[in-house]
Amino acid sequence: PHRSRIFSGMQPTSDSLQLGNYLGALTQWVALQEDHDAIYCVVDLHALTVNPDPAVLRERTRRTAAQFLAAGVDPARSILFVQSHVPEHAELAWLLSCQTGFGEAGRMTQFKDKSSKQGTEGTTVGLFTYPVLMAADILLYGTDLVPVGEDQRQHLELSRDLAQRLNSRFGKGTVVVPEPHIVKATAKIYDLQDPTSKMSKSAESPNGLIELLDDLKVVTKRIKSAVTDTEREIRFDPLAKPGISNLLTIYSALTGRSVEALEQEYAGKGYGDLKKDLAEVVVDFLTPFQERVHGYLADPASLDEVLADGADRAQALAAPTLERLYDRFGL
Ligand code: ADP
Ligand code: NA
Repeated sequence: PHRSRIFSGMQPTSDSLQLGNYLGALTQWVALQEDHDAIYCVVDLHALTVNPDPAVLRERTRRTAAQFLAAGVDPARSILFVQSHVPEHAELAWLLSCQTGFGEAGRMTQFKDKSSKQGTEGTTVGLFTYPVLMAADILLYGTDLVPVGEDQRQHLELSRDLAQRLNSRFGKGTVVVPEPHIVKATAKIYDLQDPTSKMSKSAESPNGLIELLDDLKVVTKRIKSAVTDTEREIRFDPLAKPGISNLLTIYSALTGRSVEALEQEYAGKGYGDLKKDLAEVVVDFLTPFQERVHGYLADPASLDEVLADGADRAQALAAPTLERLYDRFGL
């Protein structure tokens, strides 16, 4: 029987992943690898869109891979590799960019947000075509399901449109049309200082982030100074109480306890109690996580071996797909 294929990636755009990456995506990756053919990627080509320093990018790529492993991505079960090690990604991206409308790419809200902050001269063409490269990542492997956070929904929609376009041009079944796998409860973790924006490792200020590799005292401090509201009631109400609701979401996701149970437990208690307990929950999660990451980083030869083996296995799947598509395009 055909096991469905999973593909997902994360950008090495910071020394540390943030808790939204973990809860929105990584935990799903780990769960899905049990009974799917899963492929997980450090998307370093995507990170190039913001022109990182080369040595910094190289270091962040390893750190990101080490965090995947520490979260439970198992290279015996899943393929774990670095995007630039499989040049088929960039090659397919070119074919797909010639199938994408300029206006269509211009409607991507993430591009509009980022480019409006940076101005047209500060924005690279790579940032504009970023979602096309993402479509290439996905279509290259006949992906059925893409576990991501809510912020990637529109990009996934573009991947689907491109897949359908190839199928109507070159025949049904040319490529698999991927589906998003977005787990509602944790699809969008919010910034602690601005609980109406998503937590992101490319945020302007780190104060709203829970960074997985940060000093635990700093993590505790950031949770304790999270923005809340002027009421007292601990109640899940994302519109009226985005800060408290975000803390409850994180608490629930890390402990497996329902938000309702937490609301009951904290009935009559103060925001300070909730923050103090949540900080402990986060520290209890991060302490062994950080130890595992440091273990992987302390053995670079083994890490490189895992990534080289992953790249071989990924390329064995990607090369025939690309060859088939080159043929369809008349190349
Ligand atoms: P970032 O915005 O932190 O740089 P990436 O673009 O590398 O994150 O995304 C990596 C994965 O993490 C994607 O699946 C994305 O949807 C998910 N993700 C990122 N931020 C969040 C968040 N705040 N809540 C839930 N999922 C998130
Ligand atoms: Na993102």
